[in-house]
Amino acid sequence: MNQELNSSFVKRISDTSWHQPAPRLDWAQSLEAGEVLHFNGLPFAIAQSEERLFTDNLLAPKSRNLSLDSRGVLKGFQGPEDLKVDLSSFILRFRGLANDLVNSAFPRYCEEIRIAPTSFRPKEVESRKQSVRADDRRLHVDAFPSRPNYGERILRVFLNINPNGKPRVWRIGEPFEDIANRFIPGIKKYSYWKAKALNTIQVTKSLRSEYDHLMLGIHDAMKQNDAYQKSSPQLTYEFAPHSVWLCFSDQTAHAAMSGQFMMEQTYHLPVSSLYNPSSSPLAVLERLTHKELI
Ligand code: SIN
Ligand code: FE
Repeated sequence: MNQELNSSFVKRISDTSWHQPAPRLDWAQSLEAGEVLHFNGLPFAIAQSEERLFTDNLLAPKSRNLSLDSRGVLKGFQGPEDLKVDLSSFILRFRGLANDLVNSAFPRYCEEIRIAPTSFRPKEVESRKQSVRADDRRLHVDAFPSRPNYGERILRVFLNINPNGKPRVWRIGEPFEDIANRFIPGIKKYSYWKAKALNTIQVTKSLRSEYDHLMLGIHDAMKQNDAYQKSSPQLTYEFAPHSVWLCFSDQTAHAAMSGQFMMEQTYHLPVSSLYNPSSSPLAVLERLTHKELI
């Protein structure tokens, strides 16, 4: 039986405007404590002409998602030009609203924020076939094998845009510090020379730091542990269509169990931009290991 986490791990918010008239330190505090912010009243209108975008036939072979980069180039698309134009403006509209929410609610984050490409995920989660390490239906914190980030935070805004009433179902796991305490002892010692070699053969885009080594170790160990997946403290949570939710995905353990058609915007920000840097995974890991990790 799964232990149920206290549902204070998700903070429900009924605001109806993406633009906040004043900074929301209370929300930042929740996010930085690893909570998910769930908005159930933010409007996102879908034009009738956009209904034809709800198909996974517009996904190029082998692509998991469609993504719009900062220059407005749409990647992962196959199909007619008019649909490409419509899809780009559909995704761009979401990006604008997500930016407005983050800028207005968390001005401190925006001083040094980097905006990643915006994605539209038209595939049914349950149909994905993936290796264990790539399987996002397993509880994990985000850490990427090829992209060391040196402690930089990963903030994500999600929108369930499903037109058929289908929720996106997530599992949300225990606090980061509990996860770190559980898995750190089993992670192989960091080797600078191995990190150097991985960088030389371009497995990584830059040198993997000890922080990145630990985060990836935690990510993999969580996903590979069937007993942990089944029995660790966790909450199953449904995001109904038109839900918008935010979390620091490098901190909040999450697993996407089912759902189709979602938008997602990622932001990267330095630990120094947080309201409470001591809650970051970097600070937690440095505290637990008693050493500097970057
Ligand atoms: C993930 O970030 O692990 C997946 C989120 C989702 O597809 O809902
Ligand atoms: Fe993830």
